[in-house]
Amino acid sequence: MAVTRTFSIIKPDATRRNLTGAVTKMLEEAGLRVVASKRIHMTREQAEGFYAVHKERPFFGELVDFMISGPVVVQVLEGEDAVKRNRDVMGATNPADAAEGTIRKTYAESIEANSVHGSDSDENAAIEIAFFFNEDEIVG
Ligand code: RTP
Ligand code: MG
Repeated sequence: MAVTRTFSIIKPDATRRNLTGAVTKMLEEAGLRVVASKRIHMTREQAEGFYAVHKERPFFGELVDFMISGPVVVQVLEGEDAVKRNRDVMGATNPADAAEGTIRKTYAESIEANSVHGSDSDENAAIEIAFFFNEDEIVG
């Protein structure tokens, strides 16, 4: 299995509850390595751009409002089959459906305030990483 990269966001509900370290620990214990990380407060333009794929979804406006409601931590994660590995430890979008031991089961507040984002494909991971990081900020 190849070592690949994925993109992660620790969302405002988690930073507000001071869970940055707790979430990162679960990522690391799942075999992912944080090779880039920064705490930012997204602008509305950034959040709308990042979630442009969802702009026709009914929850788009609320999602953007939520993502700019506080700071987030954007990260690049590296590991074997990183996209799948990360989504496995994140758990289902709705914490009510998430498996025991996943980040969302453990920490998410709701289907929207669900603590973490993770890329859903290698292709999207590359796009999302480039949205927030320059290559020289990523140190493996
Ligand atoms: P993510 O992109 O954040 O990793 O989450 P995901 O793939 O599991 O979920 P996705 O369908 O891509 O939705 C993106 C984010 O939108 C919010 N959401 N709200 N109110 C709702 O019904 C609803 N559905 C989704 C969540 O914050 C979700 O993570
Ligand atoms: Mg998604």
